[in-house]
Amino acid sequence: MAVTAATALALVGAAPATADRTPDTTTAHDDFTIVGHRGASGYRPEHTLASYELAARMGADFIEPDLVTTKDGVLVARHEPEIGGTTDVADHPEFADRKTTKSLDGVNVTGWFAEDFTLAELKTLRAKERIPDLRQQNTIYDGRYEVPTLQEVIDLAKRLSRELRREIGIYPETKHPTYFEKQGLALEPPLVRTLTRNGLNRPSAKVYVQSFEVTNLIELRRVLRVPLVQLTSASGAPFDFVAAGDPRTYADIVSPAGLRDVAKYAKGLGPEKSQIIPRDAAGFLTTPTTLVTDAHRAGLKVHPYTFRAENAFLPADFRSSAVPSQYGDLFAEIAAFRAAGIDGLFTDNPDVAVAQEQLAA
Ligand code: G3P
Ligand code: CA
Repeated sequence: MAVTAATALALVGAAPATADRTPDTTTAHDDFTIVGHRGASGYRPEHTLASYELAARMGADFIEPDLVTTKDGVLVARHEPEIGGTTDVADHPEFADRKTTKSLDGVNVTGWFAEDFTLAELKTLRAKERIPDLRQQNTIYDGRYEVPTLQEVIDLAKRLSRELRREIGIYPETKHPTYFEKQGLALEPPLVRTLTRNGLNRPSAKVYVQSFEVTNLIELRRVLRVPLVQLTSASGAPFDFVAAGDPRTYADIVSPAGLRDVAKYAKGLGPEKSQIIPRDAAGFLTTPTTLVTDAHRAGLKVHPYTFRAENAFLPADFRSSAVPSQYGDLFAEIAAFRAAGIDGLFTDNPDVAVAQEQLAA
C-alpha cells in the first residue's frame, strides 16, 4: 500500500518530523501488505504493545489486534476470550473463583474469560508466551506486559507512525462475535465508536476490519467506511451460520459464487494458507488451487494466514529438521505463496517477510 511520509503524517495528524529522524527505509513493499500477526509474536508474547511495536519497527505495514471485550465493554487485544493461556491469571488467588466452563462456539472451554473481568481487573494481569515449548526465548518477557486496549494499540500506531515517518495501519479482528453478542457484550458498537473517535472510520484510513463470521461483517458494512476482510478456515463453517442453521460452509464461501457474494460487503479475503497451496499427506506443498485467481476475479485482495518460521508450522518442503521449534526456510514458503499471487500475508515474523521482499526486488 503506497503511503508517502507526507501522506502518513497528514493521516495521523502528526507534527512535522524533526530533522534528526531519518526516513524509514525498511519497507520496500508498497504493493504488498505485511501484517504483523498478533504483533511480532515470533519474538514477544502475542498481543502486547511490545509485540506490536516490534512488528512496526521491523517494517510491518499493519499490526493486528484480535479483539475480545471486558465485562465493562472495553475492547482488549486477546486471541480468544479465555485468558489463562496468555496471562498469569492462574497465579492470582483473588480471581480463583472466576474459573469456569463456557460453551465457546459449541466447544466447552474451561478457564478464565475476559468478559468476566472489568478492565481495571484485567490490567492487574500480565501477559505470557502462549507456546513456550516452541518459543522458549519469548518466555523471558513473561510477566512484563499488560493486556492492551484497542485504544492503546491505536495510540501506539499513531506514535510510531510519527516516529517512523510512515503510517502504521491497524488490522483488528472481531473474535467470536456471536458468542459475545449472546452475552449482551457485542463487539461491534465499541469497535465502531473507537474507530470513529480516532478519526479512522473513513475509506482512506489505513485500517482493515476482519472476521471469521459473516453476519457481523455485513452489518458493519453499513456503518464502517474502512475495508472489510472475510476470514475463512480450511474446514467448518462460520459460527453465525451454524447458530442460525444456515448450512453454508467455508468451502461454499471460497467457491467462485461465494466469493462474488463476499465482494458485496468486503474488499479482501483472509484464507488459511492451505486453501491456496494445499499440502499432501506427508506435509509437502502441492499444486495451488484457483482461489487467488477466483478471488481476484471477484475483486478481492487475498491476505492468507499464518506465516511462521518454526518447523512446526512450515510445509515439509522447507523444514530444517525434525525439531519443531527450530527455524526452517520461511523465505522459501513466502516466495512460493507470492508466486501464487497473494497480495499480502499475516506473519509472526515480519522481519523475514520484509527481508524476503527486499531480497526478491
Ligand atoms: O486474522 C488472520 C488470522 O489471525 C486468523 O487466525 O486464529 O490467528 O486469529 P487467528
Ligand atoms: Ca487474527
